[in-house]
Amino acid sequence: MSSLTNKRILLGVTGGIAAYKSADLVRRLKERGADVRVVMTEAAREFMTPLTFQALSGNPVHTDLLDPAAEAAMGHIELARWADRILVAPASANFMARLAEGRGDDLLTTLCLATRSPLSLAPAMNQGMWQNEATQANLLRLQERGVSVFGPGDGSQACGEVGPGRMLEPAMLAEALAAQFESGRLSGRKVVITAGPTREAIDPVRYLSNHSSGKMGYALAEAAAEAGAQVTLISGPTHLPRPDRVQRVDVTSAREMHEASLSHAAQCDLFIAAAAVADYHPAEYLEQKLKKGDSDQWQLTLVKNPDIVAAVAALAGGPTTIGFAAESENLLEFARAKLERKGLRGIIANDISREGLGFNSDDNAVILIDRERALELGPMSKTQLARALIHELSDYLPASASDS
Ligand code: CTP
Repeated sequence: MSSLTNKRILLGVTGGIAAYKSADLVRRLKERGADVRVVMTEAAREFMTPLTFQALSGNPVHTDLLDPAAEAAMGHIELARWADRILVAPASANFMARLAEGRGDDLLTTLCLATRSPLSLAPAMNQGMWQNEATQANLLRLQERGVSVFGPGDGSQACGEVGPGRMLEPAMLAEALAAQFESGRLSGRKVVITAGPTREAIDPVRYLSNHSSGKMGYALAEAAAEAGAQVTLISGPTHLPRPDRVQRVDVTSAREMHEASLSHAAQCDLFIAAAAVADYHPAEYLEQKLKKGDSDQWQLTLVKNPDIVAAVAALAGGPTTIGFAAESENLLEFARAKLERKGLRGIIANDISREGLGFNSDDNAVILIDRERALELGPMSKTQLARALIHELSDYLPASASDS
């Protein structure tokens, strides 16, 4: 079963008897880990209530373009940007016609116009309507614009007729949607990713660390797995769950991360250092908790940690190695210097001074820098960004024996 973990699916429900099956579809998308938001057309609300979809999706249902309360919570443009994919199921003949014409006369058509994410339809209608020349012409126009169409199935219909026009079963739709996320660009490849902060122990209760949440490294691990790679995630302490199909190696300190990285990196094709590694550790670990006693000052002597990504990049016959550069000034200059100093193939630079992006946030914008170019990606969600990055990074890999 393909996964939809952390995928943001916007489900459009239009007017048709098959709308009752969309309730089950929401459940199945959620089961695979998707975050689902439902948009209902006016006609859909004749068949089902928004409350049903709200209860199943765990999110408020969007119905009107001009509803100030809904717009204040998440405006329609924000919603269009939020979605990784839009699936309209059931898609009625009327909806397909409006979409083919490029109309934006309700919330769902407006979202379909505004989004840059892929759009899929699961048509459902009477077999005569489906086979009508007008509907077939609309279908062709939509497919030419890159809209993917699931189904319809053939069989007996609610109206008593038999023929094509049945909405595909929810389980099939969930699988078809999940399969669209699988690119196979990294199939047969081994990828090792470091993520999260490290903790450098001072005594049994204290440590030095940083604010890294690990979200970017985890999103990369997920995107690499989705692209077919065998992924090892070497993770410092985070609160994040292990992504599906990813092997996680838990470490605490930079030196543990260094050791785990070197032992896994030699056999991998791509190494991505997304961890925010502490640069120093206390020179001495105190076996007992330090009592503050009378002293007003405490001086710690710190010793430099090994540079993990540089060590991996220096391995003879080692993997294609990618680092991150989190900078608060002179982004391009500092990142390029890091690329050279650490001997990397590419470096993902992000400006940590930008509000609402980067460290500990859900969104990020980066520049992928190598010796030939600087490619700007984002701002977008870390999940979307991870996918875009994995797409770019997979181009760095030399062709494998199985490619030729
Ligand atoms: N990195 C690493 N091991 C370290 C320090 C950093 O592998 N001991 C990796 C990070 O995972 C990241 C890249 O190096 O991919 C850059 O990290 P950053 O902390 O920005 O760079 P530093 O080497 O610490 O340089 P500076 O302190 O000058 O910013």
